[in-house]
Amino acid sequence: MAEKDGLYRCSICGNVISVIEAHDGEIVCCGKPMEILSEKTMDQGQEKHVPVIEKNESGIKVKVGEVPHPMEEMHFISLIQLIRPDGVVMGKRLKQGDKPEAEFCCLADTEDLKARIYCNVHGVWKN
Ligand SMILES: [Fe+2]
Repeated sequence: MAEKDGLYRCSICGNVISVIEAHDGEIVCCGKPMEILSEKTMDQGQEKHVPVIEKNESGIKVKVGEVPHPMEEMHFISLIQLIRPDGVVMGKRLKQGDKPEAEFCCLADTEDLKARIYCNVHGVWKN
């Protein structure tokens, strides 16, 4: 079940979906099975994508990445997800011009949390 958790993209129309709860059924879009997007964990090149998780007074902040990722018309971060140790996934959708970061009301310690982000050009990254 866990191997199906993640983000999927349709190779025909470009729809991107996030699985909230995975079961046996096949995930299909435009009449074709959708493929899970692999999660990269190491930055390569100039742009930074690996999410950075920080604790602050109000909860948890997730930034993309160590150097803020561009938020331009054709290249931006459209989703930041925070994954709690109990499996709950919290998320924030972003658009062009937003800051590449999200705040979540969450009491967990940063070392127990994972973050996953989606760049519309470079795909999925996880810390
Ligand atoms: Fe990118």
